[in-house]
Amino acid sequence: MKSNRFPKTALITGASSGIGMELVRQLSCHKDLKDLRIIATARRLDRLEKLASEFPDGKVIPFAADLASPDDRERLWNFALQNFSQLDLIINNAGFGTYCRFEESSFTVIQKIFQVDVEAVFDLTAKSIAWMKPNGSGQIVQISSILGEVGLPYSATYTAAKHAINGLVKSLRPELAGTGVSVWAACPGRTVSEFRETAGEGRTSVRGKHAESTEAVVAGIVRGIVRGHSRPLLYPTWKPWLVAHAAWACPRLWDQIMIRYGRKFAAEDMPEVSITQTK
Ligand SMILES: NC(=O)c1ccc[n+]([C@@H]2O[C@H](COP(=O)([O-])OP(=O)(O)OC[C@H]3O[C@@H](n4cnc5c(N)ncnc54)[C@H](OP(=O)(O)O)[C@@H]3O)[C@@H](O)[C@H]2O)c1
Repeated sequence: MKSNRFPKTALITGASSGIGMELVRQLSCHKDLKDLRIIATARRLDRLEKLASEFPDGKVIPFAADLASPDDRERLWNFALQNFSQLDLIINNAGFGTYCRFEESSFTVIQKIFQVDVEAVFDLTAKSIAWMKPNGSGQIVQISSILGEVGLPYSATYTAAKHAINGLVKSLRPELAGTGVSVWAACPGRTVSEFRETAGEGRTSVRGKHAESTEAVVAGIVRGIVRGHSRPLLYPTWKPWLVAHAAWACPRLWDQIMIRYGRKFAAEDMPEVSITQTK
């Protein structure tokens, strides 16, 4: 960002839990962001209102929207236009995935993942660019994943969705060069949140055990925002950085590890995919 580096207005999606909720908290308390006002959105309004009540009136503005719905996205956008004279920061954080054999995924679930994790991000990113460009400044942060760069068995749809986000970022950066609008993707590894619960995964033993704290992951992202991160990807902690670089440096070894990992889970029952998103 340029001279007025620190954002004064922000829109954060997926603010009702996990990484999004912690982003609202850390940004709202940041010493350099005292003037920041945030529109916090998700479907669960009660949680957003509770979050907003932690801060002085008007600092965090809750707004309920289902991002899978183009009409709701339009409503959200009009609300932002009414409340902010300009948009300095958008964090496209809302997202979900499932763990299942790809051939057993229902098409409804595949579509829903793409609606929330890809369509909504593309739509809000295009709207943000159109708003930010005439002002000559703005920061667009996509909460992607290490799975935007590497593959993972039993997470094919989610992984493909996150690859789409990283592809979007890598292509938009040269397109936006010189406009003052920056776009980058944060790529966390496994993080403590409600993600696995939403994905319908009952097991927490193996895949839950190496999860990093939400606070540490979000602290890395907030550092990137405040400094105006200047690269396409940001690994908020060293773990996903190491995994991505090991996968690129040793692709054959990485394939072997993934095959072993896949076999381990193939031996177990896959969880039922019954997610709130399909209602
Ligand atoms: N946790 C991890 O291990 C991990 C790792 C890498 C990347 N990520 C990414 O981090 C982001 C946040 O996930 P999280 O881990 O914090 O999971 P989470 O705790 O399940 O939070 C997901 C958020 O997305 C919102 N959301 C989901 N579907 C929505 C919809 N249709 N419309 C509007 N909001 C919706 C949820 O709010 P409502 O249900 O109230 O709508 C919730 O606030 C996601 O993009 C995820 O892919 C997570």
